[in-house]
Amino acid sequence: MRSSYCLRMTQSHPRISKAVIPAAGLGTRFLPATKATPKEMLPVVDKPAIQYVVEEAVSAGLSDVLMITGRNKRPLEDHFDRNYELEEALSRKGDAGRLAKVQESSDLATMHYVRQGDPRGLGHAVLCAAPHVGDQPFAVLLGDDLIDPRDPLLARMVEVQEREGGSVIALMEVDPAQIHLYGCAAVKPTGESDVVKVTDLVEKPDPADAPSNLAIIGRYVLDPAVFAILRETEPGRGGEIQLTDALQKLAEAEQSAAGGAGSAGGAVHGVIFKGRRYDTGDRGDYLRAIVRLACEREDLGPEFRDWLRSYVTEEM
Ligand code: UTP
Repeated sequence: MRSSYCLRMTQSHPRISKAVIPAAGLGTRFLPATKATPKEMLPVVDKPAIQYVVEEAVSAGLSDVLMITGRNKRPLEDHFDRNYELEEALSRKGDAGRLAKVQESSDLATMHYVRQGDPRGLGHAVLCAAPHVGDQPFAVLLGDDLIDPRDPLLARMVEVQEREGGSVIALMEVDPAQIHLYGCAAVKPTGESDVVKVTDLVEKPDPADAPSNLAIIGRYVLDPAVFAILRETEPGRGGEIQLTDALQKLAEAEQSAAGGAGSAGGAVHGVIFKGRRYDTGDRGDYLRAIVRLACEREDLGPEFRDWLRSYVTEEM
């Protein structure tokens, strides 16, 4: 098995070019705002959260983007499409600045969409990408996970995957008491301080059983072998098909492959991220993202920071 995998890696080693963005979840933590509006469309300052995610994929060199959508998610497609009426109106007014903002999102990437009929879990959403992705490694970016554009993560993950093969997940140290909210990784060190080898994965463990405080966050670079595993993966925690369960099988297959011969899907590595990340599907994190990004904006920041300072000192 290993030899055919190596052959595949050395024969065709095209640069990873496809990004998959699962955005079909129901967003129940943000109700009622998300009753008729996708949570990915909620604005972070003046851009919908999803636009930051697509921009991140593009800046890591992935300009073919497949979004997994569902019912109520049409605004996502509209946002990345042209809006001729608005463009025409802004042109007539000679408002070049706003016109550029409107056109920015439709010129970003080559966008594709597929619907996940039933939201049967993140693993099932990723499986919906199989016909589009084919047999090359690909990236997955969760539509409600915002990585600060100044702390690049995906480009580093792509680099590690292109060197090591297999799959690469993003990990972040969290307070051990919070690990039950995440997928959690057992790891071994490598020669690089920000890269680890993943030996086991558990979805949302009790803190007492957690193998580490390394939480899986919403960025992945995956070997297409994950699709075959997802097809066989039974619904797990919460009755959903869990991506973590499929990745756990990849890591386990690599661990148990005889004499270091390796497995068909290759190893699972983790890149440890120490930058700024916000879960925009969580109300507290969403507010923190807005305040932080607004404070740091050149146009809005100075006035907003002054207001915030006086609000905190005088009213809190
Ligand atoms: P979440 O666990 O955040 O679930 O999904 P959710 O339904 O979106 O939000 P809450 O918990 O009800 O508030 C993680 C990611 O996986 C996608 C979501 O869109 C989100 O980006 N997802 C989840 C799917 O695309 N399909 C699914 O069936 C489930």
